[in-house]
Amino acid sequence: MSATRVLALDELTQDEAHRVVVEGVAIAVVLDSAGAVHAIGDTCTHGDISLAEGFVDDGSLECWAHGSKFELTTGKPLTLPAYEPVPVFAVEIIDGDVYIDPSQKLAV
Ligand code: FES
Repeated sequence: MSATRVLALDELTQDEAHRVVVEGVAIAVVLDSAGAVHAIGDTCTHGDISLAEGFVDDGSLECWAHGSKFELTTGKPLTLPAYEPVPVFAVEIIDGDVYIDPSQKLAV
């Protein structure tokens, strides 16, 4: 499958997550403080919570429910109670638009 345009880069706010659904896959898109865009699985592995409703903190996305932080670059949980990673997807920026291919996982 090929990458799908999910939103314009200027729809993102730095250090905030934006939930999108691409081909049935819920993804949290994050523009980090360094200007890099990340796409990580939106559903917390500890419970059925949207990570995009949580908080971006120093390279991680924190679940608001019980505080697990997932690393934006790897999807790995940095803190309990979650202990399983969320997937991370490849992001392409083309002419100011953000493209994601949900079949291209960088890390699981
Ligand atoms: S549901 Fe996310 S840490 Fe519990």
